[in-house]
Amino acid sequence: MLAALWAALRVYAVGVAVTMVQLLRRLRGGFRPPELPLQADRVAIVTGATRGVGLSTACQLARLGMRVIVAGNDEHRGHEVVARIQEESGPESAHFLFLDLASLSSVRSFVRNFEATALPLHLLINNAGVMLDPSGNTKDGFERHVGVNFLGHFLLTSLLLPALRASGHQGRKSRVITVCSSTHWVGQADVARLLGQSPAPCALAAYAGSKLALALFSLRLQRLLSALGDPVTANIVDPGVVDTALFAHAGWGTRAVQRFLGWLLFKTPDEGAWTSVYAAASPKLEGIGGRYLRDEAEAEVLGAARDLELQGHLWAESCRLTGAAWVAVGE
Ligand SMILES: NC(=O)c1ccc[n+]([C@@H]2O[C@H](COP(=O)([O-])OP(=O)(O)OC[C@H]3O[C@@H](n4cnc5c(N)ncnc54)[C@H](OP(=O)(O)O)[C@@H]3O)[C@@H](O)[C@H]2O)c1
Repeated sequence: MLAALWAALRVYAVGVAVTMVQLLRRLRGGFRPPELPLQADRVAIVTGATRGVGLSTACQLARLGMRVIVAGNDEHRGHEVVARIQEESGPESAHFLFLDLASLSSVRSFVRNFEATALPLHLLINNAGVMLDPSGNTKDGFERHVGVNFLGHFLLTSLLLPALRASGHQGRKSRVITVCSSTHWVGQADVARLLGQSPAPCALAAYAGSKLALALFSLRLQRLLSALGDPVTANIVDPGVVDTALFAHAGWGTRAVQRFLGWLLFKTPDEGAWTSVYAAASPKLEGIGGRYLRDEAEAEVLGAARDLELQGHLWAESCRLTGAAWVAVGE
């Protein structure tokens, strides 16, 4: 009970610290959209693009001229989003493909469906996420934060890597962008905890752990890609505290703050998406990977996320759990 309370307080403390920094920035003139060049002929997959940060990211990428695959688990909303993007950015700017990250077989069939389009792939944004979702374990029996936020994206990235590789080249590499959170700072750096094999003290701690797992994954991926000279980079982005449905299952206090003070303390979904869009399209990041980006600038990742032994152990165990075959990237 005390351990659960302590773990939850640590996550809240991170959230409060980030909102205070955002408030100061807002009072000093606010956030500014990044200025980015057009991205014609580039294809992006954005997971969880049916609302929140992912939806804003997809709209902004389409405005830059990218063709966006809206990957989501709500078919109806997905088609609405595609219609909205197409109206603004043209008939070829968006397509919907069903993806339920809570099911490894759905991840595999999403990739088969994407391959059937014969489109190239220049950008993968691992954006979808859940927090405190009461739906229980995933179809494969994983704790939900672990399964949806981390393992689903782990398998997805492994299966899409051949397409990313084939579409990138030196001078214009493909990019894998993984959406993390400042809460990774209080995730417990222990593989059994990160994979939900030993239960987290509370659901908020499991969320923080899933974000630390994503940071460990992305940094190791970048190391492997650069060791092989692959035309793909991997970076991590932190959108800040954003006014989205992510908090739908949070406690009443958090929801009250969001409802009445969200306009002041939280970023809007568009502002939250700017770091992802910057990571996706900025020429300053050409060929650069292994960065943790917040507010369109490099920020500090938790030291433990750079622990090579921890990265390797998590990677091996995640391969075992998902059946991902990363041998192709030089393991
Ligand atoms: N909001 C914040 O303050 C904040 C802070 C730090 C990091 N983040 C991260 O930012 C990312 C986007 O979150 P958000 O704030 O935009 O939350 P959101 O509005 O709740 O959006 C989450 C998206 O993920 C999708 N998703 C959930 N479960 C899925 C599944 N099983 N398969 C496929 N898609 C699924 C959702 O689709 P459905 O609605 O159809 O389920 C939705 O499109 C997440 O990774 C989150 O952890 C957010």
